[in-house]
Amino acid sequence: MTTTSTAPAAAVVLDGITRTYRSRSGNVDALRGVTHVFPAGTFTAVMGPSGSGKSTLMQIAAGLDRPTTGGVTIAGIALKSLDKTRLTKLRRATMSFVFQQYNLLDALTAFDNVALPVRLAGRRADRAAVLEALDRVGLRDLERRRPPEMSGGQQQRVAIARALHARPAVLFADEPTGALDRATGRDVLTLLRALADHGQTVVMVTHDPLAASYADTVLFLADGLVVGQMRRGDATQIAARMTELER
Ligand SMILES: Nc1ncnc2c1ncn2[C@@H]1O[C@H](COP(=O)(O)OP(=O)(O)O)[C@@H](O)[C@H]1O
Ligand SMILES: [Mg+2]
Repeated sequence: MTTTSTAPAAAVVLDGITRTYRSRSGNVDALRGVTHVFPAGTFTAVMGPSGSGKSTLMQIAAGLDRPTTGGVTIAGIALKSLDKTRLTKLRRATMSFVFQQYNLLDALTAFDNVALPVRLAGRRADRAAVLEALDRVGLRDLERRRPPEMSGGQQQRVAIARALHARPAVLFADEPTGALDRATGRDVLTLLRALADHGQTVVMVTHDPLAASYADTVLFLADGLVVGQMRRGDATQIAARMTELER
């Protein structure tokens, strides 16, 4: 039988992921068996009550932490097979990060922060392309500013410009709007939506149903397990589901 696959390529595959944190006060099973495929070019929001394992899931999906059992595949490459150096190279080549704490380098200008991942990957950062990325987040005039001289929202937009410029296959965002006012938060979400519409894969952790409503799919976590998915949910539907989970 010949089959023509119309399924989109998988950007990130989580296969039976568990993660147990071991500490003196006992073990914590933060993830208890998560299997999920993030298709290329889609925007997924990960939601769940506090402590449900969202940040752990994101860290593992991005290769920043290793699972206790199970495997992660990114762009067809099994992370398990990579040593630290290769993993870092893969991360630089394929991923960007937007975190609540903007993780910019304070000593560098906005321009140099945007250019950094491309330079670290050993490529030349084209001046016009860096400025275009800053322009898309409305910060072209601030190219010489350093993060301590910018507002939280501006710093977050620099982090997004950095992702726009690096054009990663996958963008991971953990509570990217957590520290922003509503209008700035909306700008950031619109940019993330646009990235996915241009074929990049976006995985975003959030506890905000309005933020999650920008995603194609919402993945619900509870107690270290995936307990549901919602496609194209609006903020009200997503909020209702969250209320159920928090009961
Ligand atoms: N480094 C750690 N050591 C021990 N326990 C941890 C650590 N990080 C997270 N945990 C625990 O793992 C569980 C999941 O945490 P986390 O992934 O941060 O959840 P969420 O992001 O959904 O709030 C929680 O019970 C948390 O206390
Ligand atoms: Mg968290």
